[in-house]
Amino acid sequence: MAESIAGIPRAAIESLLAAEQARFVAAHPRSAALAKRGQAHWLHGVPMHWMSDWGTPFPMFVAAARGAELQDVDGNVYADFCLGDTGAMFGHSPAPVAAALKAQADRGLTAMLPSEDAVVAGELLARTFGLPYWQMTQTASDANRAVLRWARAITNRKAVLVFDGCYHGAVDDAFVRLEAGAVSGRPGLVGQAADLALHSRCVEFNDLAALEAVLRTREVACVLAEPVMTNCGMVLPEPGFHEELRRLTRRHGTLLVIDETHTLSSGLGGFARVAHLEPDFMVAGKAIAGGYPCGVYGFGDEMHTRMLGVLAGKPAGHSGIGTTLAGNAMAAAALRASLEHVMTPAAYEHMLKLADRLEDGLESLVNDENLPWHVSRVGARLEVGFVRTPPRTGRESTARLPQLLPDAIRMYLLNRGLVITPFHNMMLLSPATTAMQVDRLASGWTQCITDLHVAARAA
Ligand SMILES: Cc1ncc(COP(=O)(O)O)c(C=O)c1O
Repeated sequence: MAESIAGIPRAAIESLLAAEQARFVAAHPRSAALAKRGQAHWLHGVPMHWMSDWGTPFPMFVAAARGAELQDVDGNVYADFCLGDTGAMFGHSPAPVAAALKAQADRGLTAMLPSEDAVVAGELLARTFGLPYWQMTQTASDANRAVLRWARAITNRKAVLVFDGCYHGAVDDAFVRLEAGAVSGRPGLVGQAADLALHSRCVEFNDLAALEAVLRTREVACVLAEPVMTNCGMVLPEPGFHEELRRLTRRHGTLLVIDETHTLSSGLGGFARVAHLEPDFMVAGKAIAGGYPCGVYGFGDEMHTRMLGVLAGKPAGHSGIGTTLAGNAMAAAALRASLEHVMTPAAYEHMLKLADRLEDGLESLVNDENLPWHVSRVGARLEVGFVRTPPRTGRESTARLPQLLPDAIRMYLLNRGLVITPFHNMMLLSPATTAMQVDRLASGWTQCITDLHVAARAA
């Protein structure tokens, strides 16, 4: 019998992918020329080497991005459901953020001193997320690294625990996986000198027994977790998981850090607020300042007191936390504008309503075509999983991610003016997204399956 991938014959996927790649080449001559030119001075021809990992024959160059729309340098226009892999979750260049940045640009970009906007942004962060104290960084990666340092300093413990399949940005301690019950560094890492297994612990998401076994050693300073795993496909917490995670961390003197960088999609205040979690630290970045580089971490009274104690008791010298441009005036202005005018209840209402609509469309496709797939979702963030049963762990999820099929579907959609996220088919709904765009995306998926059936018959 012919080989199938997630219910679709491999030959059909290969033939569709080849046709779509040829179509992409024909429609993107200016991107092709820029890609060639960029090769002379950039690694992989692009400013970040993984910008060439979209599965397209060459990178697509963007001319403009506004609201939920992208325009490439060849004049093709796209409904954007990738939204910069979350950086633009509230739409590209939200008007209040763009205006705040323009105004601040004439008043100084960075002074290594606080601005009034920072004070107001702190008040807004506290109101939105329910944690009284905050610090700014330039990225979510920076925020996670800072929080790990604080957690170690506060608890006087060295180990940190993450879940297998996690991603928390460029954070060395989190680049581990669980291999035959042992912790090891991820195989793709470049230039990793430290033995990550020394101070990192790793268990499967939803495995409370394994979690408790590690926490019981009382070596773990903190658990760093996304409340829903979103970087290995999507893995949802089982009922009671978060309650137990909190109970066990408290019981064993381990701090709980919830990384909301992607799960800000859950609703106003992020997953923790919506689901009443009680983290010791909360981290966010990417979209928090409307897509302008900015990360934040928040904490409560107890952590605040313990952090003050750490600072008071340490010798003079750099704390190892922070970068020169963190908390700069531009970022503070963007953060304030984003919290004040963009991340509003009305914005979330719109996003979540459209997410319902897309979920319905994709579920109908899966059911009508009897595809062995499922749709998973955290608020305004959706993914198609190419197995019938949703995974319980990161390992299960990554083991089941097929390669060729998502590439073919993504290329197909791109050629029809629909951008979804590379690596894991994520689709985000922004306040600027329209119902018509959502319907176009749902029918794009349906048409792709129809065309795959046609290709299967021809193969
Ligand atoms: C959950 C999570 N945390 C942190 C980050 C790091 O964000 P940044 O690359 O903006 O530092 C990412 C990036 O994808 C992420 O998915």
